Amino acid sequence: MRTFSVICALGLVILGSSWAAGQTARGNPDAGQAVYEKQCLRCHGSKLDGKGPDSQDLIVRPANLQSQASRTKTDWELLVTISNGVLFSPMHGFRGKLTDQQMLDVLSYIRSVVPSETVS
Ligand code: HEC
Repeated sequence: MRTFSVICALGLVILGSSWAAGQTARGNPDAGQAVYEKQCLRCHGSKLDGKGPDSQDLIVRPANLQSQASRTKTDWELLVTISNGVLFSPMHGFRGKLTDQQMLDVLSYIRSVVPSETVS
């Protein structure tokens, strides 16, 4: 019983402090829009459809964030991609370039334009 409560307490601490819990609630979509326009728009486009001005020149086309495939991903999956990037693609990781808060902000901006279709 004791072990159980320790595990519960630990779980709460981890959940409370990690991105995995209610992350979008803590992002600011307005701040995120500014980040998006500066860092992401040239590839992902003003409509988040992957048709930004630079997208034509890329061998791997930027993800269409409006697509079913992106909408059904969890916030966590998208955050990991924003943070780590996609291997062998022009989508490099933004960890170190953006703060954690900015990544949360940009995620909540994306979700404010294209609502999630997951129950995450
Ligand atoms: C140099 C062009 C480029 C820039 C700049 C860029 N991306 Fe990407 N992005 C891509 C490409 C290419 C992919 C991968 C497409 C694939 O996997 O086929 C991608 C994938 C993604 C995905 C994954 C979508 C999914 O459904 O898995 C997310 C989320 C994303 N980008 C968000 C962002 C955000 C947020 C920014 C700005 C902070 C950004 N990207 C900047 C090119 C870019």
